[in-house]
Amino acid sequence: MTRSSSVLKRELFAGNEVTIRNADFMLRTAIYPGSFDPVTNGHIDIIERGFKLFDRIIVAILHNPAKKYLFSVDERMTLLRESLKKYPDIEIEAFDGLLVDYAVQKNAQAILRGMRAVSDFEYEFQMALMNRRLNRNVQTVFLMTGLRWIFTSSSIIKEAACFGGNINGMVPPAVNQKLKEKFGR
Ligand code: PNS
Repeated sequence: MTRSSSVLKRELFAGNEVTIRNADFMLRTAIYPGSFDPVTNGHIDIIERGFKLFDRIIVAILHNPAKKYLFSVDERMTLLRESLKKYPDIEIEAFDGLLVDYAVQKNAQAILRGMRAVSDFEYEFQMALMNRRLNRNVQTVFLMTGLRWIFTSSSIIKEAACFGGNINGMVPPAVNQKLKEKFGR
C-alpha cells in the first residue's frame, strides 16, 4: 500500500461514515528558490525554520539574470546536497524559467524567502509583487533571517574568501572547503 493511499481514520460526515486517507490532506509545500552561489548557513537557517511551517520544502536553484555565478549549477547542487544531508527527504532541484511556473509544476502553494535588513526589502517586495501578478495562487512567505546571519550573504562571503578571510561558521564545511579550492588557498 502506498503512503498516499493509507487510511488515516474513519469519521462521520453528515451522518455517513467517510474514510479519510493521507491523500485527502494537502501537503503544505514551499519552494525555497535562490541562486545559492554558494549556500550559506543563513540559507540553512531559513530552511530549518521553514520546516516548522511547511511539510515539504523544495530547494530550487534558479537563474537570476542580474548575477554572474562563481559555481556551476552542478557544483551548487552538490554543495546543497552535502550541506542538507541531515534532511534526507528534502528535494533539491534546478529550474530554468519562471519561478511561479515551477511552483505550479510542483504543486507548491508558497515561495519561501528570507529577509535580512531593510536593504533586502525593495528587491524582495518587487519580486513578490511580480510573482503575485504572474500567478495569484502562489503566495510569498518571508522569514526574518536569524540575527546571527543578518550581515551575511553569498556575495560578501565570496569576497572575504577570495582575499583569504576567515569564513568559518558562516558556511557549511563543504562550502568552506570548495571556496578555498576555488580561490587556490
Ligand atoms: O538568491 P537570489 O539570487 O536572490 O534569488 C533570486 C531568484 C533566483 C529567486 C530570482 O531571480 C528568480 O526567481 N528567478 C527566476 C525567474 C523569475 O521567475 N523571476 C521573478 C519574476 S520577474
